[in-house]
Amino acid sequence: DTPLRDLAAAKGKVIGTAVTGSKLTGTYGDIAGAQFNSLTPGNAMKWETVEPTRGTYNWAEADQIVAFAQAHNQQVRGHTLVWHSQNPSWLTNGTWTSAQLSALLQDHINTEVTRYKGKLAAWDVVNEPFNEDGTYRSTLWYNGLGSDYIAQALTWAHAADPSAKLYINDYNVEGVGAKSTALYNLVKSLKERGVPIDGVGLQAHLILGQVPSTLQQNIQRFADLGVDVAITELDIRMQLPSDSTKLAQQAADYKSVFDACVAVSRCYGVTVWGFTDSDSWIPDVFSGYGAATPYDENYVPKPAYYAIAGSL
Ligand code: XIL
Repeated sequence: DTPLRDLAAAKGKVIGTAVTGSKLTGTYGDIAGAQFNSLTPGNAMKWETVEPTRGTYNWAEADQIVAFAQAHNQQVRGHTLVWHSQNPSWLTNGTWTSAQLSALLQDHINTEVTRYKGKLAAWDVVNEPFNEDGTYRSTLWYNGLGSDYIAQALTWAHAADPSAKLYINDYNVEGVGAKSTALYNLVKSLKERGVPIDGVGLQAHLILGQVPSTLQQNIQRFADLGVDVAITELDIRMQLPSDSTKLAQQAADYKSVFDACVAVSRCYGVTVWGFTDSDSWIPDVFSGYGAATPYDENYVPKPAYYAIAGSL
């Protein structure tokens, strides 16, 4: 069979997967290298991973993933610089003035983006800034710095690596709705202000049978604003145990998502959040759910894999 990355490339699309650095060997490494032309570190570039103690950095897993990607002629999406989750406890437990918080964030962005300057295709600069109703999420950053932390983060990231495409990434923004419209309005205003913003990431942690019917329309409206759209964290979870009916529905769902991206030229590509059910976050976080990726626990391609191939 033709690898997914070759099918995607022929359509001008990128197909990526989130990866765990320690697993990039054996069958897991073979599939990651052969089938995908983009990698996203699942956890390795998050603040708690790279700076667990203030001023003490751990780049080992991130460096390993970047080296693997270079060896396999793959892009890397950096993930993520500014988020409310997976921050080090020294940061979240500290008491900071706005000026201190701003300096900490600027230093973090500058340090991490500079380290990988010229090596990453894109950064998810800001992750999950919105609530479901489209208001700003109450976070360390929003509460301390106001909504302009987003523009500042983008500006600092651009200064550190002008070649990386800069994204704002969120979940439950795949279809048209209050949350995606808030993201749309933010991107529109950032563009109007001349803030460096290249794209929006639609995470797409979806539930079986629930691909939003407005997905393509939503991708298109962002494209019409003049930004790229990437599906950044696709998985489609089902209630366990899986069966052939559910796996067929999942295949149809994967196909709808890829078809929507293929239909819009500014849709940059699709990244799956783990390519195998043995390396998926879903069972840990959504009790009773799983089987969300295109390969089963034993690296056997599922119907979803063939549906993706059929869409590309
Ligand atoms: C998840 C990782 O996959 C897990 O290993 C970790 O325990 C928690 O974070 N949205 C994101 C990702 O932007 O960073 C999250 O990744 C999944 C939800």
